[in-house]
Amino acid sequence: MTPRLKTRFTEFFDVDHPVMLAPMDKVAGGALAAAVTRAGGLGLIGGGYGDAGWVEQAFRDAGNERVGIGFITWSVQKNQDLLEQALDHNPAALMVSFGDAEEIVKNAKARDIPTIWQVQTVVQAEQAVGAGVDVLVAQGQEAGGHGMDRGLMALLPAVRDAAGPDQIILGAGGIADGRGLAAALMLGADGVMMGTRFWASAEADGTDAAKAGLVAATGDGTVRSKVFDIARGLDWPWHYTGRSVRNAFADKWVNDIHDMKARAGEAQEAYDASDPDDLSVRALIAGEAVDLISRVESAADIVRRIVQDAADLLERAPHHLR
Ligand SMILES: Cc1cc2nc3c(=O)[nH]c(=O)nc-3n(C[C@H](O)[C@H](O)[C@H](O)COP(=O)(O)O)c2cc1C
Repeated sequence: MTPRLKTRFTEFFDVDHPVMLAPMDKVAGGALAAAVTRAGGLGLIGGGYGDAGWVEQAFRDAGNERVGIGFITWSVQKNQDLLEQALDHNPAALMVSFGDAEEIVKNAKARDIPTIWQVQTVVQAEQAVGAGVDVLVAQGQEAGGHGMDRGLMALLPAVRDAAGPDQIILGAGGIADGRGLAAALMLGADGVMMGTRFWASAEADGTDAAKAGLVAATGDGTVRSKVFDIARGLDWPWHYTGRSVRNAFADKWVNDIHDMKARAGEAQEAYDASDPDDLSVRALIAGEAVDLISRVESAADIVRRIVQDAADLLERAPHHLR
């Protein structure tokens, strides 16, 4: 497909389209990351909490395609060897989210590896810019997975104002079609990073049942909470919550998270005892953008349509002018 949108992001990474795959833990494997890159965007492997064997396999699966990798900052900080191992692959970019990543950014920059830092507040954006990060991702609370409280509509332009006109910035959270991409560009972004939309793709790692669950889910039916972190025994800093599809297990605990914390052992036992495919208990991590997903598609079709639709909308935009 002919490139139709040119931004600082496309120029910096020398890619056709301003669309990046979110490094979704265990969902964005090598096949999906490679497919997004092949489609003209930038694919990132979801290094998540950090599992060395999984990361190696993901790079193997990506073959010769140019892909980056992302990690959960507070988790990978406990595993310096894995970070070095990932950097040894000379990834297209190293992305970090959720925590102070100044040292990690310094380390990657020393190896000339482009750095990406996902932030949830303006203060965090200022810290990331101060650390010299190449690309900022401003993530709104609409997002699937972990995040904080701010909505993208006001956060994105505020991050642009704080970071200055030259900083490369992507918007993330609730974006799944051309309208979202066009709006993000208008709000000051140089492109978008999408998770939930690519989760419902042919190349994503995950079961057909989970992907069907995404297609069936509604944004109203998602919830941002700590339920699944407590259930999975994950030691997330308290200010982060995770957005998932609401299910019977979440319903049981979501309105009294302190009670759940007090009874964490009982909750974890029930969670662990369930079938991993039982979506009435297990977390189906997804954001509000599920409203905009009506079928599982190839990553290439997703990239092609979002870019075409955004470019068409922008071309038609002057009709709003008197
Ligand atoms: C299934 C899933 C897993 C995720 N895992 C991670 C992760 O491991 N690390 C990370 O930085 N972000 C992760 N995220 C959040 C994304 O980085 C991104 O902020 C989010 O997907 C953007 O919003 P969207 O889902 O509406 O596109 C995950 C998101 C989803 C949906």
